[in-house]
Amino acid sequence: MSKIVAIDGPAGSGKGTVAKILAQECNLTYIDTGAMYRAIAYASLQNNIDISEEEKIVELAKNSKIDFIDGKTYLNGKDISKEIRTMEVTRIVSPISSIVKLREILVDMQREMAGNLDVIMEGRDITTVVFPNATYKFYLDATLDERANRRYKENKEKGMEVTLDEIKENISKRDYNDMHKEVGSLTRTEDAIYIDSTNLTIDEVVEKMKNIIEV
Ligand code: DC
Repeated sequence: MSKIVAIDGPAGSGKGTVAKILAQECNLTYIDTGAMYRAIAYASLQNNIDISEEEKIVELAKNSKIDFIDGKTYLNGKDISKEIRTMEVTRIVSPISSIVKLREILVDMQREMAGNLDVIMEGRDITTVVFPNATYKFYLDATLDERANRRYKENKEKGMEVTLDEIKENISKRDYNDMHKEVGSLTRTEDAIYIDSTNLTIDEVVEKMKNIIEV
């Protein structure tokens, strides 16, 4: 039986960072589902499709091939790792991810990607929709202020000029939208192990999770 480690949590909770480290240390394939929604958001922008044109976005997703190779995200063979992290994409990704038919396509893709591999998959609906029977389920959290600060620092290191207020507003809007979706909304379930990372270092979070998944 393959091992599935599922992690959900709001933007900036540290899911991506810890999942990448755990993937390396525990020999798991890392699947970043947020990057997949971002890839479709990016493709919509490239094709001048408005977020209200749901059918066109769904069509676009049907014709999209998303791959993760060596820590990079590819859309139809093109490396789009940097492009999907821009504020332009970040602003529209949450409403795009509310499109129910798009979610069906990406959830199928995510299950297919996992196949028979041992995976660590992170997102918003992994513990609830994609793999409700995952081997280990985690919900990673942190306060809004802490999450905004983390993103602000990350962006600054990458040379992106976005103010802390702008990031906080974006995260807060995404939190609301991600928690109030018709399908696949971010929900903390009772059977997921809850970790509040507000006052923890990345290493401390990794250690906590490692102790659980390595038994
Ligand atoms: O994790 P992230 O910030 O890269 O995710 C980008 C957006 O995609 C986020 O606002 C919500 C959406 N998303 C989702 O709806 N379901 C997932 N499994 C992962 C992300």
